[in-house]
Amino acid sequence: MKERIEQLRQEFFEEVKNCLSLDELNNVKVKYLGKSGQFTALLKGLKDLSPEDKPVFGALLNKAKVEMETVLENAKAELQSKSISDKLANESIDITISKNEQRVGTLHPIQLMQNQIIEIFEGLGFSVKEGPEAETDYFNFQALNIPSDHPARDMQDTFFLGKEILLRTHTSPNQARVMSAEKPPLKIVCPGKVYRPDSDASHSPMFHQIEGLVVDKHLTLCDLKGTLETVAKKLFGGETKVRFRPSYFPFTEPSVEVDLTCSACGGKGCSLCKGTGWIEVLGAGMVHPFVLENCGIDSKEYNGYAFGFGLERFAMIKYGIPDIRLFFENDVNFLKQFDKTED
Ligand code: PHE
Repeated sequence: MKERIEQLRQEFFEEVKNCLSLDELNNVKVKYLGKSGQFTALLKGLKDLSPEDKPVFGALLNKAKVEMETVLENAKAELQSKSISDKLANESIDITISKNEQRVGTLHPIQLMQNQIIEIFEGLGFSVKEGPEAETDYFNFQALNIPSDHPARDMQDTFFLGKEILLRTHTSPNQARVMSAEKPPLKIVCPGKVYRPDSDASHSPMFHQIEGLVVDKHLTLCDLKGTLETVAKKLFGGETKVRFRPSYFPFTEPSVEVDLTCSACGGKGCSLCKGTGWIEVLGAGMVHPFVLENCGIDSKEYNGYAFGFGLERFAMIKYGIPDIRLFFENDVNFLKQFDKTED
């Protein structure tokens, strides 16, 4: 019995010494000290010994058991700390891996542009009016002094939804809607989507405009110019200048094409402004008396000015974006550049 105890003890120590992992150590523990372990079998055999042998071997077995358990605990502690230091040695932190961030959406650059422009106009006393995108031929054209056989209809190719219903080609029909419904003085901006069958780097079949309209007494082109200059300076910087060139729109008389000094070169001439120092940004003019009369406003008492421009064009100039289609591809890498919360 004594030899057997000694033999198992030695074998146990030997096996513990060779353990390389906590799993292996656990296997050794089960093999010797588990329910049906070899050392446990010796303990179980105690009851069959003679009353004289029992205390002798009982003491020997207990001593060996305590010893074995101590060795086991020490080996366990050693393997645990080894596994931590192994981990530390083998694992290095890759600082080039991007952080696991949760990104929330951001406003689309066109929406940001619209908000910014509306804020400027609101500061000047304008209020915002929205109208339908599916518009009647009457408000889109006829009320604006463009009868059905008028050649000016060719200026704006049109998506027709029916004989009399179309996708509005500009936000100007809101001029006519608001003038027909409300009494002057009026001071409004009408933002929204407009549609024309055109598609290339600077045209999209759907794009956004903002139309402005002021109806009051004794308004002049100077009022129009002052308003546009104030907005342009706020948007593109205090040095920006505004220039009018004669133009034609059926709903304004006189009509002007409005240029701003190029924000990229400050007017010196560059590729953005094709060397001219000026960029054409919008159409404007004094509201045609026919349009006022069509909408029930006495053109002898009141007059007005109006202007309309594309938000995409403004955003392209402001942010140096070369192709209008980028706004609608919804490439997250493009869109997130406009995220103000980005660090
Ligand atoms: N509605 C015109 C366009 O879309 C712009 C414009 C608005 C011109 C108001 C003059 C006055 O091209």
